[in-house]
Amino acid sequence: MACPRKLAAIWLFFQLAVAEKVAQIEQVSIGKFRDGSALERSAQVEALRRAFAQQGMVTLVDTGIEHETIEKTITKSRDFFALPRSRKEHFNGPSGYPPRSFGAITSPRGKHYHLQQEDEEGNILNEWLQMRNTSVHVDWSDPYYASPEGQEFYSSEAKHPEQLEWPAEVPGLQEATAAYYGAMEELSKVMYELFAVALDLHPDFFLKRARRSPIWPVTIAHYPPQKRAPSDDRARIQPHWDRTLFAMITTSDVGDEESGGGLQILVDSATGEGVDGRAKLEGRSVEWQNVVRPPGGYVVNVGEMMSRWSNGRMRHVVHRVRNPVVNHTDPGRVSLMAYVLTDYDTPVECLHCRSDGSEPIYEPTWVGELMNWGSKLPIYNQTKQDMMRQAQGLYLSNGTQTSLGEPTDIKAVEASMSVCEASSSSTMAAVS
Ligand SMILES: *[C@@H]1O[C@H](CO)[C@@H](O)[C@H](O)[C@H]1NC(C)=O
Ligand SMILES: *[C@@H]1O[C@H](CO)[C@@H](O)[C@H](O)[C@H]1NC(C)=O
Ligand SMILES: *[C@@H]1O[C@H](CO)[C@@H](O)[C@H](O)[C@H]1NC(C)=O
Ligand SMILES: *[C@@H]1O[C@H](CO)[C@@H](O)[C@H](O)[C@H]1NC(C)=O
Repeated sequence: MACPRKLAAIWLFFQLAVAEKVAQIEQVSIGKFRDGSALERSAQVEALRRAFAQQGMVTLVDTGIEHETIEKTITKSRDFFALPRSRKEHFNGPSGYPPRSFGAITSPRGKHYHLQQEDEEGNILNEWLQMRNTSVHVDWSDPYYASPEGQEFYSSEAKHPEQLEWPAEVPGLQEATAAYYGAMEELSKVMYELFAVALDLHPDFFLKRARRSPIWPVTIAHYPPQKRAPSDDRARIQPHWDRTLFAMITTSDVGDEESGGGLQILVDSATGEGVDGRAKLEGRSVEWQNVVRPPGGYVVNVGEMMSRWSNGRMRHVVHRVRNPVVNHTDPGRVSLMAYVLTDYDTPVECLHCRSDGSEPIYEPTWVGELMNWGSKLPIYNQTKQDMMRQAQGLYLSNGTQTSLGEPTDIKAVEASMSVCEASSSSTMAAVS
């Protein structure tokens, strides 16, 4: 007969597992936007507008992206991440890159490996393969690319040929990821249009500002299975919000609830609305909720840049990828993330303030300034850059998380979360 204590523990485990909340995320069909009737189209736009205002996030279906394109990228990436660590690190971004914060890729067809996070014993928690393969032609004599500022984002393959070197042990990796990049470039165009109409702008508003070779890579993140629990201050991805315009994410598995290691967003417990990067947290009751992605679908979330442009109409919601339950059996998670941005010289300021008289929440800036932290070019105001970085709630280069959240105090968020997390993890240990 099983011991009552163990049964009680198992019962409690299921209670907790069942009680774990799933975020109410709007599902939007691109098919209905592209090919639907006028009524279907406007219903989808309305759904988008509402979802981005309340949740900062939607799930997207009927994207037209072939299942095979996604699966091949995931399979080939897994083969790459299975290589010995020293081999992967051979593909680190070489020294001599400009000090931008947004991935060490400067070639329109470059790639690099980056170890993002490890535990105290040196086990990898999160590693990245970042790559681009844009179809946009680059004229290297054009000042957009050739100016000192342009050079912070672009340099020719001739200058950094190592970016084009791919591991011979993983045949097909380059082709698979390049095809995936092409699919993301196409999908970004649809999303640019959807965002524009949801903001009552001309449908071409963002497209007209995204004509150059994209500065954004596709980031393929690998979160290996964890044999031991990392310390409390280390997770697959710490709470943060994105700086970019929007992100489009799909992953290797849909049943993240089982491993517990998937994406979560922070919501207001009372209203269920996403907690935005500007929200004052004092006195508010907040909780993490799981984001469940429909099979074959994408998660699309708003970044800080969109929030700045829309003057907060669209929310840049706080999210994280937590650690899985210890000894879970899944083969590790692969996440394909495209963080979309317009050209680096695009001004970013309140779009509606002049017409509706509302007060701008943010100072005007431009894409390069938001994405180019660490640059020493004199055109950048270092004070402003530091302030933006600290408010964003990411790690400092020495591993310390910035917490000077005007406006969001991420440490306060974590402190309020740690109480329930401590209780749920001890229960899981009791079951196993
Ligand atoms: C990568 O980009 C180049 C240049 O645009 C293009 O010719 C090639 O077809 C792309 N590769 C894939 C697999 O799409
Ligand atoms: C996880 O697995 C390892 C190796 O089998 C074992 O030593 C450890 O106790 C397990 N941890 C938990 C919390 O079950
Ligand atoms: C730099 O940015 C800070 C913070 O936004 C601002 O107070 C300061 O006036 C700026 N300095 C210059 C020279 O623009
Ligand atoms: C990292 O830098 C911050 C800010 O300079 C400092 O407060 C902190 O103690 C440093 N942490 C470590 C581990 O060196």
